[in-house]
Amino acid sequence: MDHPHNPKPMRLSRIQLAQMMQPEHANSQGNVHGGWIMKLVDEAGALASTRHAAHRTVTVAMDQMVFHQPIHIGDMIILNAEVTYAGHTSMEVEVDVMAENPITGQQTHTNAAYIVYVAIDDNERPTAIPPLMAETPEEQARMDAAKLRQQRRLAQKAGH
Ligand SMILES: CC(C)(COP(=O)(O)OP(=O)(O)OC[C@H]1O[C@@H](n2cnc3c(N)ncnc32)[C@H](O)[C@@H]1OP(=O)(O)O)[C@@H](O)C(=O)NCCC(=O)NCCS
Repeated sequence: MDHPHNPKPMRLSRIQLAQMMQPEHANSQGNVHGGWIMKLVDEAGALASTRHAAHRTVTVAMDQMVFHQPIHIGDMIILNAEVTYAGHTSMEVEVDVMAENPITGQQTHTNAAYIVYVAIDDNERPTAIPPLMAETPEEQARMDAAKLRQQRRLAQKAGH
C-alpha cells in the first residue's frame, strides 16, 4: 500500500477512457449532450485521483467547462486524465477530451476540464494523500499552473 508521505510520479495517475457515442447520448441533431461529456469527464477524473490517492475520492469542485467542438453519434470519445496538483487531502485532475472518427482516425481536441477531488477515509472524512512528483520540466510547469488554479479556487471560496 502507498505511504501518504512518499511522493508519487504524476504519470502513475494517468488513465485513458474511450467510449463510442450512441444515439442515447445525443440530441435529435446527433450532437452529444454536454451533460454526458461532463459525466465521462468526472468518471475519468475520479479514476485518476483514486489512483494517486490509493483511497476513494469525491468530487468537491469543477471549473467552468467550455465545449469548443461538437461530438457526434458514431464518434469515439477519448478522455485522458492525470493528477496535476496534490495538496494535503485534495487533488486537481486535468481531463483532456478528444473526439475521434473511428473510420478516418481523425482526432479533434474538444475541451479540457479541471476538477478537484478529495480523498476520503471509511468515515467519509478527508484523508492524507501522497505528494505529487514531476519528472520533466513540462510536468513541473503543469504542476505550477495547477497550484495557481487551486489558490484561485480557495480565494474564491473564501469570498476574496
Ligand atoms: C469533500 C468533503 C469531504 C470535504 O470536507 P470538508 O470538511 O469541506 O474538508 P476541508 O475543508 O478540510 O477540505 C478538504 C480539502 O478540499 C479542499 N477544498 C474544499 N473546498 C474546495 C473548493 N471549493 N475548491 C477546491 N478545493 C477545495 C480544501 O482546500 C482541502 O484541501 P487540502 O486538504 O489539500 O488542503 C465534503 O465537502 C463533502 O463530502 N462534499 C460532498 C462530496 C460529494 O458528494 N461529491 C459528489 C459525489 S462524488
